Amino acid sequence: KKPLYADYLQSHIRTVPDWPQAGVMFRDITPLLQNPKTFRLLVDTFVHRYMDEKLDMVAGVDARGFILGAVVAYELNLGFVPIRKKGKLPFLTVAEEYELEYGSATVEIHTDAVKAGDRVLLIDDLVATGGTMLAAAKLLGRLGATVVEAAAIVDLPELGGSKLIADNHLPLFTICDFA
Ligand code: PRP
Ligand code: ADE
Repeated sequence: KKPLYADYLQSHIRTVPDWPQAGVMFRDITPLLQNPKTFRLLVDTFVHRYMDEKLDMVAGVDARGFILGAVVAYELNLGFVPIRKKGKLPFLTVAEEYELEYGSATVEIHTDAVKAGDRVLLIDDLVATGGTMLAAAKLLGRLGATVVEAAAIVDLPELGGSKLIADNHLPLFTICDFA
């Protein structure tokens, strides 16, 4: 079932063809954040979904997952932990390498970011191949946390990420998709 304002929110996502390379249809969420009404509706959509859920922490993925994840964490009265691209976190880390639509990357998390048994909401802006979300979920799993749900604004189902995430038994919530 689609969230109430899904179409309205989706109408504020801008598509930029051939960026950052030929053949990629880049789904740009900056207009959604720029407009105060859609920014509030966007954040509230996630907050309403999780406000009655027993959660211990929100984790957000570098870099666009930070924008949404931190605000949602604040509104849910939860702490926020960043899952960052390789080489950015100063303390002890664990790392996972993954492939994306245009290249490969490594994500890291501080080893003390979550505790074993913590129930974590994982947030990013978009699911393409699913590599980022799965790598982030693996990091949380390696620290003994449970990812209650992975959440994003956009799913690109043709890139197979949402199917891969489902195949890995990770619950996924997205507001809209571009087929
Ligand atoms: C984008 C996006 C997701 C990821 C999705 O981030 O914000 O994190 O790609 O792709 P996937 O499902 O194929 O893994 P990107 O790596 O471009 O970094 P950015 O957030 O720093 O722009
Ligand atoms: N991350 C990976 N693929 C993307 C796309 N097509 N649009 C925006 N972000 C992305």
